[in-house]
Amino acid sequence: MDFELTQEQRMIRDLARDFAQGEIAPIAAAIDESGDFPHDTVMKMGAIGLLGLTASQDYGGVGADMISYVVAMEEISKVCASHGVIMSVQNSLVNYGLEKFGTEDQRQAFLVPLASGQAIGAYSLTEPQSGSDAAAMRTTAVRDGDNYVVNGRKSWVTSGPVARYIVLFCTMNPKGDHRDTMALVVDTEKTPGFARGKKEPKLGIRASATCELTFDNAPIPVANRIGEEGGGFKFAMSILDKGRIGIASQALGIAQAAYESSLEYAKVRTAFGKAIAEHQAIQFMLADMAMRIQASRLLIFRAAAKADAGERFSKEAAMAKLYASETANFVTDKAIQVHGGMGYSKELPVERYFRDARITEIYEGTSEIQRIVIARHVLGKG
Ligand code: CAA
Repeated sequence: MDFELTQEQRMIRDLARDFAQGEIAPIAAAIDESGDFPHDTVMKMGAIGLLGLTASQDYGGVGADMISYVVAMEEISKVCASHGVIMSVQNSLVNYGLEKFGTEDQRQAFLVPLASGQAIGAYSLTEPQSGSDAAAMRTTAVRDGDNYVVNGRKSWVTSGPVARYIVLFCTMNPKGDHRDTMALVVDTEKTPGFARGKKEPKLGIRASATCELTFDNAPIPVANRIGEEGGGFKFAMSILDKGRIGIASQALGIAQAAYESSLEYAKVRTAFGKAIAEHQAIQFMLADMAMRIQASRLLIFRAAAKADAGERFSKEAAMAKLYASETANFVTDKAIQVHGGMGYSKELPVERYFRDARITEIYEGTSEIQRIVIARHVLGKG
């Protein structure tokens, strides 16, 4: 087993690191404070390939492997978790699904602008009454000639306020089960009856835009259906497997930033006549942080390597997401403890890391859902 990055993987990591340090770091605190979506830097991310990192070059992407993607995700999220989730949703939940399951016409029409960074994409599964129980969706699609007429309400849509194309999940029978679901691509500029709701005011990842979507007799061409009628739920789940690797990497980036900040602070802050890093109480915290971060990274690499090898990786993605997100919450909590009062102040980014970490245990499947997925796999029921 080789833990060294290849030259190409290092190049992509360095590109993401330089971009994050040069372009995102100067605005990260301000956009967290204002909650403004960072249009300019997101467009620049698109221009250098980060929004189409794993899409193939045939469709305007970079054609990088999943290891390159996770190391780039870590670098971006280390500086700003809001940019991290925008990048993750676009690569994993939108581009990947279109490339793997879309028709050639759909790839040309939707994937090319998304992967080349000219358009922003979103993925819309959750509804006000169905989060973890995703198959209980109630947004309906009824066939009418060459269109489906869609009615319903979706919620918590990352990049919903700014997306041009949205991968939407709906059901043909709201009293049915997952076998009645399907996926449609919504072109937000060509869909009458489609509307975006108010932006959610959030605890963390405040510069990523999140909103509700409503569909009121919205016609969506049958040609925009991804896969077959009845296949929506399985499609949603298999894309989420990739998404969970992205969110695990986002959590890792947040944890790494909080850890590095703590390490630096512990060396310069003194108490009882010596640097606090010389006190065992602080050393134990730093040791636990370092160990959990390393374990998270290994789990993420394992899931990414399985994905690159073309093997099923649902269990590995769930393990990576669960462990890395719990680690991000553990590490950011300890980072505030190491920083003391300064960790609680908005003058340092540590409190932002703490707020940003929280969502990683909730979206793309809560920690409880990841445990369900892992348990089903180890029991041979996955
Ligand atoms: N890949 C392919 N197929 C899968 C699959 C996967 N990963 N997981 C399940 N399936 C298949 C099953 O094999 C089963 O197929 P059959 O009917 O042929 O046997 C079918 O799908 C139904 O599976 P389950 O019986 O396991 O379904 P369930 O209703 O018990 O749900 C669940 C399983 C794991 C709880 C699932 O509902 C789940 O993951 N829930 C969490 C939803 C979630 O993560 N939402 C995130 C929203 S998106 C978001 O957060 C994005 C963002 O903004 C950043």
